[in-house]
Amino acid sequence: MLYNKKIILGVTGGISAYKCAHLVRLLIKQGAVVKVILTPAAAEFITPQTLSVLSNNQVIVDFFDANFNWNNHVHLAEWADIMLIAPLTANTLAKMANGLCDNILLATYLSAKSKCIVAPAMDLDMYQHPTVKHNLETLKRNGNLIIPAESGELASGLVGEGRMAEPENIVVFIQEYFKQNLPLNGKNALINAGPTYEAIDPVRFIGNRSSGKMGIAIAETLANKGANVTLVLGPTNEKIINSAIKIINIENSDQMYEAMLSNYDNKDIVICSAAVADYKPANLSSSKIKKKTENFNLELTKTKDILSELGQQKKQQILIGFALETEKLLEYAEEKLKNKNLDFIVANSASENGTVFGADTNKITIIDKHNKISNFELKSKHEVAVDIVNYLIDFIK
Ligand code: CTP
Repeated sequence: MLYNKKIILGVTGGISAYKCAHLVRLLIKQGAVVKVILTPAAAEFITPQTLSVLSNNQVIVDFFDANFNWNNHVHLAEWADIMLIAPLTANTLAKMANGLCDNILLATYLSAKSKCIVAPAMDLDMYQHPTVKHNLETLKRNGNLIIPAESGELASGLVGEGRMAEPENIVVFIQEYFKQNLPLNGKNALINAGPTYEAIDPVRFIGNRSSGKMGIAIAETLANKGANVTLVLGPTNEKIINSAIKIINIENSDQMYEAMLSNYDNKDIVICSAAVADYKPANLSSSKIKKKTENFNLELTKTKDILSELGQQKKQQILIGFALETEKLLEYAEEKLKNKNLDFIVANSASENGTVFGADTNKITIIDKHNKISNFELKSKHEVAVDIVNYLIDFIK
């Protein structure tokens, strides 16, 4: 969910700083890239070494650290997608509210263009103090987001509001923040990818060379843009990185048909990138076929056209198909766009260099139902996926 998100974690000097070890682990587990800045006081509560090991990055404490050019706070601030300060003490809060800048964390905060999210932590009466409340209001007014302190037992022995939000809750808050700002937030997407294997007998099948890379890259991109993604996936060795993607593994075209149709109704976006077999053996042999005769004829029968069926049942869905052609690319792609009732079709030529099944690159043309034709350069499949999803986002608009 936080895959590749760049997060600066600022830690200030309170007892709950020890929880930051766990917080860093959770963020890293979500795929985030984390750089930690400690205030000198925070380093009394948790060692830079611990956070450096857990974040896989150098931890910055001092303006005048020999390994760190003091001026780098500007680059650091530009690098980040968000800045998180947890725990936030009353002292650093007051400085942030008033623009003070006597350590590297505050200098980075003042340089940051990204959103700053803070998780205050202090003792009961401090948290209730009018000055603290006033400073929190100032921070809010200045565009920062506050994760309110939680109630419970405090380090002083008092019980009440003031505990830093639990690391799990901080992570959920950050996830929600990123989700809300994503263009496909709340959209439900269904996509199929990979080949299908049509069984001949218990040990043999008819398949094709599709790797599923293109469809998987699209699924990952949709998820990164906030969509809830269900991926119906044929046999492939490719890995899916984003753990939020719901995967339905299938083997043959009938199973893919069932999976796509039964998951279709509540979807906003449906993309068929799978290389579905067009024909399957008419009869499945229950035992291994022996090589008794010199010649062997295998009778094939047409598979169901999944995309055509989805096109016929289409309601609110934006339906997108692929066309792989070796000749008359645009003519055949336009035919498929109309016949299958699509919103747009991604055409690619199997005869172009770098676009064969299994390759890491692809060159596409998108044709939409308003006859708009957009050509794209040869790119990595990941970049092509971003082009397709960006096109989709514009199309929805
Ligand atoms: N498709 C499908 N079910 C099938 C065959 C194809 O859903 N049984 C989908 C593919 O996932 C793709 C689109 O239809 O999005 C076009 O697939 P393609 O193989 O290019 O064309 P076909 O429709 O199979 O026609 P032909 O093989 O004659 O070009």
